[in-house]
Amino acid sequence: MRGAGKTGERLKTARKRSASSTRWLQRQLADPYVRQAKAEGWRSRAAFKLLELDDKYALLKNARRVVDLGIAPGGWSQVVRKRAPKAAVVGIDLLPTEPIEGVTIFQMDFMADEAPEALRQALGGKESIRRYGSASIPMDEALAMVSVDLGGRPYLVFNVKFSGEFAGNFETGLVEEFFRAVSVNAGMNIHVNVPYGSSNHHICEAIFKAFGRALDEATRTDDRIKGVMSTKGAL
Ligand SMILES: C[S@@+](CC[C@H](N)C(=O)[O-])C[C@H]1O[C@@H](n2cnc3c(N)ncnc32)[C@H](O)[C@@H]1O
Repeated sequence: MRGAGKTGERLKTARKRSASSTRWLQRQLADPYVRQAKAEGWRSRAAFKLLELDDKYALLKNARRVVDLGIAPGGWSQVVRKRAPKAAVVGIDLLPTEPIEGVTIFQMDFMADEAPEALRQALGGKESIRRYGSASIPMDEALAMVSVDLGGRPYLVFNVKFSGEFAGNFETGLVEEFFRAVSVNAGMNIHVNVPYGSSNHHICEAIFKAFGRALDEATRTDDRIKGVMSTKGAL
């Protein structure tokens, strides 16, 4: 074809690719975010989504460990490195990804059985975290008390009496199942106690808020803790 630049590039590509791939490429070439990403050194236009989300919600403030599921080509991890340079960042993708300084990258299916362990190893251990956390949260007439231990041993104690099988459309029985799954998969000891409360809605809300607070406390680092919080030296 005659002509240089974008038109020539598009037609040349169209001969080699399927019609849908060619349409995608044409959209890319016309997209101002793609151009801006290229100009600013971001590997994907997706970088702007995370930048804007972080501007609005401060998602990356104080981030310490970040997992990028589906990292390729790497725009989001670039943003994480810029906004949270102290965070440990691990990415995983079926496709190859060019190295990013400070990011550990696995070319692997994130649904594969070995993926969670690979991510856990790469993110580092539980050095300097407080390990234990507790919180009591009232919600009108209901009180929820949740304690967690991130010591690696799964165990759930769930002392909650709901007044019926539903909170609105939500099956209250699922709450215990949720915490059992978290406990087993995260190797976490979780105690959930609700000494009183009559509204299932309030009970559920108080439990999840208390769990969030307890987990926040348990995962915080403390400079006084050297290594892991265990006399056995491992968690
Ligand atoms: C929209 S792209 C991600 C873009 C990336 N966040 C960025 O900022 O550059 C989605 C990625 O998810 C990956 N992906 C989809 N399913 C996957 C799986 N099961 N395991 C690993 N990666 C997967 C795809 O290969 C693709 O690269």
